[in-house]
Amino acid sequence: MERSLESILVTGGSGFIGSNFIRHLLAQEGFSGRIVNADALTYAGNPLNLADLQDDERYTFIQADIRDEEAVARLFSEYEVDTVVHFAAESHVDRSIFGPRDFITTNVMGTFTLLEAAREAWGDRPDVLFHHVSTDEVYGSLGDTGAFLETTAYDPKSPYSASKAGSDHLVRAWAHTFHLPVTISNCSNNYGPYQFPEKLVPVMILNMVEGKPLPVYGQGLNVRDWLYVGDHAQAIWTILQHGPAGETYNVGGENEWRNIDLVKHLCDVVAKQTGEPEDDYLRLITYVTDRPGHDHRYAIDCAKIKRELGWRQAHDFPSGLSETVAWYLANTEWIASVRSGEYRTWMETNYAGRGSVNDHGR
Ligand code: NAD
Ligand code: DAU
Repeated sequence: MERSLESILVTGGSGFIGSNFIRHLLAQEGFSGRIVNADALTYAGNPLNLADLQDDERYTFIQADIRDEEAVARLFSEYEVDTVVHFAAESHVDRSIFGPRDFITTNVMGTFTLLEAAREAWGDRPDVLFHHVSTDEVYGSLGDTGAFLETTAYDPKSPYSASKAGSDHLVRAWAHTFHLPVTISNCSNNYGPYQFPEKLVPVMILNMVEGKPLPVYGQGLNVRDWLYVGDHAQAIWTILQHGPAGETYNVGGENEWRNIDLVKHLCDVVAKQTGEPEDDYLRLITYVTDRPGHDHRYAIDCAKIKRELGWRQAHDFPSGLSETVAWYLANTEWIASVRSGEYRTWMETNYAGRGSVNDHGR
């Protein structure tokens, strides 16, 4: 049975990865459907991320909270949704430590609400798919060797990763019990344009430019596996087209860096583009109190998606990082708007009355 892929509900499409995914999908020759982006526009949801698409007839934005049962049910019926790509989440580990409530209500209860709406709307349709975008953090923390496999036992350690593990379990339970066609991807750290400047890469680039300290947690010895966001988007599109229902795929960069080495490398890349002395940036490195419960190392074994679906990372790290730095240096308006909080009012001034935004779900 062919998948429909005609009316795709993207949740959290105004965030970092969701907005990159929407732009990626609309650029695919093989995609002839429409996209409905349902996003609550929390602090991390930025309408400017997709401002260039506001006149694209294939794209609709709806401000909606995935915890709102009525709003979610209405999305399925009004837009005859046949595919869900579920990004919407509270995504920042540090925030989950200082305020975990929204992580539980959005990541766990919001996912539950979407699953129930999909089950209600789809019945036993075989041409539909619920794809859940998840994280490698559900597997816990590694020592100095080894890598996470799809079969690695879950061992989440932060409120964020525990909430994502909970949502993964719900998705699998709905597949097992109610035969909902689902797929899951567990991805490593993404970098690229439009990432909110609370995550490591944009924090470092922007602080360098502004001459502010570069805060490295602990001794900077924690290891992350970095993947260009466009490669993540392509992995999800590949799964939507070819991933059998019920399957889970690990997605990663096969590109491990200790935080301190990555920060020093970024100093070099930024210095090359700004023409400032690299030492001026290196001098800003400041070791700060470690993140409580800081996971030591993540590394992804993504052999399955490569072998079974033919996905590959298309961006090597030097070019991906260099393009990312160039994007942050060039997009000063986006940065100023995010820094000032002005992006939160962009919707009202630029979008209202254009027919593709309404009060749905407010
Ligand atoms: P992000 O924080 O940039 O974006 C999250 C989006 O979800 C925002 O637009 C926000 O407004 C929206 N949202 C939050 N709560 C909502 C709610 N209740 N209802 C509707 N919308 C809501 O996050 P991101 O980095 O783009 O991550 C997207 C997804 O990918 C998340 O599920 C995250 O767990 C997963 N993931 C992220 C990474 C990474 O490196 N950033 C890696 C692997 C997986
Ligand atoms: O592994 C996938 C996960 O990657 C995603 O599921 C999360 O949504 C995403 O936020 C990311 O989590 P991390 O905690 O790994 O990302 P973050 O950018 O917050 O931190 C990366 C590493 O850098 C981590 O070891 C903490 C460290 N760090 C981070 C910041 C923001 C610093 O040393 N200084 C900083 O200022």
